[in-house]
Amino acid sequence: MPRKKTTILALQEKKARGEPITMITAYDYPGALAADRAGMDSILVGDSLGMVVLGYDSTVPVTMDEMIHHCKAVRRGAQYAFLIGDLPFMSYQADRAEAVRNAGRLLKEGGMDAVKLEGGRQMAETVRAITDAGMTVIGHVGLTPQSVGQLSGYRVQGKTASDAERLLADAKALELAGAAMIVLEMVPDRVAGRISRELRIPTIGIGAGVGCDGQVLVLHDMLGIFDRFTPRFVRKYAELFPQMEAALAAYRDDVATRRFPGPEHSFWMDDAEWSGWTGDTDTHG
Ligand code: KIV
Repeated sequence: MPRKKTTILALQEKKARGEPITMITAYDYPGALAADRAGMDSILVGDSLGMVVLGYDSTVPVTMDEMIHHCKAVRRGAQYAFLIGDLPFMSYQADRAEAVRNAGRLLKEGGMDAVKLEGGRQMAETVRAITDAGMTVIGHVGLTPQSVGQLSGYRVQGKTASDAERLLADAKALELAGAAMIVLEMVPDRVAGRISRELRIPTIGIGAGVGCDGQVLVLHDMLGIFDRFTPRFVRKYAELFPQMEAALAAYRDDVATRRFPGPEHSFWMDDAEWSGWTGDTDTHG
C-alpha cells in the first residue's frame, strides 16, 4: 500500500486498535527527512529546540519567529508524518485571541498540522478557542518545561495520590475542551497508564512508561548529540556528538598538515590552457 500522509484520525485509530504511536522531535530539514524515512507517525517541532539546537538554558526564551523558522524547515523535510508545532512560552498564556493567532501562524506560516501547548485545566478555554478556530490542539501535562521555575526543576510529577488525581483531572479537562492528543511528561508509569486508559484520545509519553498510547523522545537526546545532560528516561540509539567531534578534529588536522584537499577533491585545468595562460611549460602546477 502506498504510504499516505498521517492524519490525527489515523493516530486516534491507532489507539483504538492498541497500536503504539511513534513520535520524535525534529528541528530542521535533515532531521525531519530522516524521521519521515524511518516511518515515524508524527514529528514534533518541540520548543526543546531552544536547548538542544539554540543553546539556551531552558525553553523559556524561545520565540514564535524561531519556532516558525524551524517548523518551515521540518515541513520541507517531512512528507508523511503528522506535524506538530509547539507554541512557545508567552505566545498563548496571556491572551486567548493571541493564542488563536499564534496557533494560526504555526499552521499557515510554519506548515504544521497541529499545535501543542502546555498546561492543564487552566488552559482548557484556550484549547477550546483554538479548536473552535478549526485547528488541532495537542495538550501537555505532567512536567511542563515552560513552567520549570514554578515546578522547582525538572522533577517527576503526579507522585502522590492527590497529584495523580489532579493530573487525571487536567487531562480530562483538556480532552473535554477538544484536545486531540495529550503528551504526558515525567509521570510515574502506573499513573500515566491509568490516565491513558481513562481518556478516549491518545496519550504520548516521555518518561511516562509503556502504558501510554505512544512515545516521544527528543531527537538530540536519543542520537547522543546534546552534550549537557541526558534524562534518565532516554534510551540512546547512537552517540553522534563524540563522532562529530572526532570527525572535526580529523578534518582540522588534515587541513593543518595539507593532507586535505587531495587530488580527488581538486579541479584541473587542461595543460595546453595552463601554458597558454602562464607561458609556463610546467604542466603539473
Ligand atoms: O519541546 C519538546 O520537545 C517537547 C517534548 C519533550 C514532548 O515538548
